[in-house]
Amino acid sequence: MTKPIGPIPAGFSADSDGMLLIGGRRADALVAEAGTPLFAYDLKSVAAKAALFREHFDDVDLHFAVKANPYTAILQRMLKLVDGFDLASGGELETAIAAGAAPRTMSIAGPGKRDAELEAAIRHGVTINLESEGEAGRALAIAERLDVTPRLAVRVNPDFEIKGSGMRMGGGAKPFGVDAERVPALVRTILDASADWQGFHIFAGSQALSADALIEAQQATLDLAETLSEAVGADLPKLNLGGGFGIPYVHGDQSLDIVPIGSALRARIAARGPRLRGTRFAIELGRWLVGECGIYLTRIVDRKVSKGKTFLITDGGMQHQLAASGNFGQVIRRNYPVAIASAFGSDTVEEVSIVGCLCTPLDILADDVMMPRADVGDLVAMFLAGAYGLTASPQAFLSQAPAREMVVGGD
Ligand SMILES: Cc1ncc(COP(=O)(O)O)c(C=O)c1O
Repeated sequence: MTKPIGPIPAGFSADSDGMLLIGGRRADALVAEAGTPLFAYDLKSVAAKAALFREHFDDVDLHFAVKANPYTAILQRMLKLVDGFDLASGGELETAIAAGAAPRTMSIAGPGKRDAELEAAIRHGVTINLESEGEAGRALAIAERLDVTPRLAVRVNPDFEIKGSGMRMGGGAKPFGVDAERVPALVRTILDASADWQGFHIFAGSQALSADALIEAQQATLDLAETLSEAVGADLPKLNLGGGFGIPYVHGDQSLDIVPIGSALRARIAARGPRLRGTRFAIELGRWLVGECGIYLTRIVDRKVSKGKTFLITDGGMQHQLAASGNFGQVIRRNYPVAIASAFGSDTVEEVSIVGCLCTPLDILADDVMMPRADVGDLVAMFLAGAYGLTASPQAFLSQAPAREMVVGGD
């Protein structure tokens, strides 16, 4: 039975030959330049998302979660679009510095930071979002040895989560952050050690498509930050409210409307209590900023029929697009948006399954979908490949050829 595909992001069109245009360029021209499999990222799409955020969130800093896409040309474009980078490892720190980002605009979060990563962050003046009392002790000891004042924030494990979010990062026992009730004592330790107190990081979830759920979580985040600051007895310099803005991946997903989120946050910030009067607020976003800018292009290397079912076999696969294959934490596999690049917008005429070249039944890119006729040599375009694509996939699996990356639409 035919299965639906996810919604193709707005703004894509074809030229008069029916060839998909990416950032104004023909998909086959990009492939002629860079080869397949190819991730092509449209920088204009990233700039448009950042501008949309700015329009609706005044006085809130915009941070990019580098984990979503650490490709250097993306980071370089981000330098002009965001106020800071949020890192998940020492490797991301090196990548961000190499791209030209200023360490003092960066923060690093993640459980299990090694001493070398803490040391690099302290040496560079990166804010460390502490995930435990043990990590705080190690960071303070390293800073003392280096004779540097560390910039320290505490990541709070909140008692709530973003309702309906694809990935819950709060509410209950978690390896991330410090349980809220233990935070005041830890902050006092940090203040007593004369560290540079940077505030709270409260990340309650990811991939949320409900504005109401995000509004509720942001209100709860401000409430919690106020309660904790009162308990500590100190003003709060910064509050990283987390993010969680999602994008529609599969049939039935609706785009997130950020307009009411901006208004509700503005009103809540206006009503903030005395401990948050001088606070800087930040929202950290990954997939919402870059997910839609990326297209994964693969070439069909075989077309075969097995027991009446037509397979288009491509030179890419789950080794580059794990999430699209349904193996990145999904309970039920559902099709991401996909198209035949050389027949974009043409009538669909046959039901096919588009698979990768790995010898595993897991390597499905699109299952039982209606497509225009496609043959060996044609290009398949997988949309929503700008976040958690290449670096979130098992690239070394089966020693297949690496994917290439390129940007289009730069200035
Ligand atoms: C701490 C933290 N920040 C940011 C993100 C980025 O999330 P997204 O790409 O959904 O915006 C994540 C995702 O898991 C996260 O754990």
